[in-house]
Amino acid sequence: MDGTELKGIVHAETVCTDDEHDMSLRPQRLSEFLGQASLKKNLSVFIEAAKARHEALDHLFLIGPPGLGKTTLAQVVAHELGTDFKVTSAPALEKPKDLAGILTTVSEKTVFFIDEIHRLKPVIEEMLYIAMEDYELDWIIGQGPSARTIRIPIPPFTLVGATTKAGNVSSPLIGRFGITCRFSFYERSDIEAILHRSARILGISLDEDAAQLLACAARGTPRVANRLLRRMRDFAQVTQAHSITKDIVSNGLARLEIDNVGLEKHDRDILAMIIERYHGGPVGAETLAISVGETVDTLEDYYEPFLIQSGLLQRTPRGRSVTALSYKHLGLKKYS
Ligand SMILES: Nc1ncnc2c1ncn2[C@@H]1O[C@H](COP(=O)(O)OP(=O)(O)O)[C@@H](O)[C@H]1O
Ligand SMILES: [Mg+2]
Repeated sequence: MDGTELKGIVHAETVCTDDEHDMSLRPQRLSEFLGQASLKKNLSVFIEAAKARHEALDHLFLIGPPGLGKTTLAQVVAHELGTDFKVTSAPALEKPKDLAGILTTVSEKTVFFIDEIHRLKPVIEEMLYIAMEDYELDWIIGQGPSARTIRIPIPPFTLVGATTKAGNVSSPLIGRFGITCRFSFYERSDIEAILHRSARILGISLDEDAAQLLACAARGTPRVANRLLRRMRDFAQVTQAHSITKDIVSNGLARLEIDNVGLEKHDRDILAMIIERYHGGPVGAETLAISVGETVDTLEDYYEPFLIQSGLLQRTPRGRSVTALSYKHLGLKKYS
């Protein structure tokens, strides 16, 4: 987690989330991993097949916006395979020895998870190619003319690489993953099921209609759903309510300035900025990011996917534009 990126309360990846206090909410088995049906169906076949052959599962590439369950799924896969789980993130792999240090100590069939794999340094990436393909490490001993490369064998392992930006991953790396899982935003019914499951685990009573309303505001994202559930628990607690009712949710969402489609104030500010300052767009990502006080990464990874999915924003070669739906949603008039 990068503390320097801390901004606002909404960033799914960088804020010190309650997730860390609620590890209990993380599904351990594929059967508890709700939603993403087609992805799960295929993956369970590949897991079973690898187990039956007593082989390491093929390398797995997970793509999707923050909070959809990439880290969770990697852990679930290790659990289902009954193997060790090692986790790191690309920015933490600074030097070849950082990667070598991990790969030379993994046990056979270990699931090795690298988060934000689009941020790998080229030298690490090249080391990884050989490790993924041949289960060997190229290691340079000595310096200058006397330097030579030795190959160190490592146990067969499964690399799980996760990214929010598949477009920034090099094609040689992508080509070395045998299985690709692309996450989509969750169906509302799946988010409801996740909310009920989390409520059960946290010992919260959550009314059916309250869950439905909450699911509408959760941006199709389990992490957001769990976070909202905890906030509603806070609101319920101070009013000494025994369960989270629809009224509590509706008041709570209003207090958090989250609207009926799950937009937070900052989402609306972004759309309003494009409309008011850039006549609806197109405006380049850099310009837009500066205007709304975000980094391009945060804008692209966190805000845009959901706005695009909701049909409120378009990404065009010339920049970002709002749609007619945006004007309607914000109650603003279109310039002519
Ligand atoms: N399919 C799922 N079913 C139930 N809970 C989930 C699911 N996917 C994610 N979660 C919950 O959402 C939180 C965020 O998931 P995480 O794996 O950290 O997302 P990502 O790594 O994609 O950013 C987890 O702590 C977990 O509790
Ligand atoms: Mg993650």
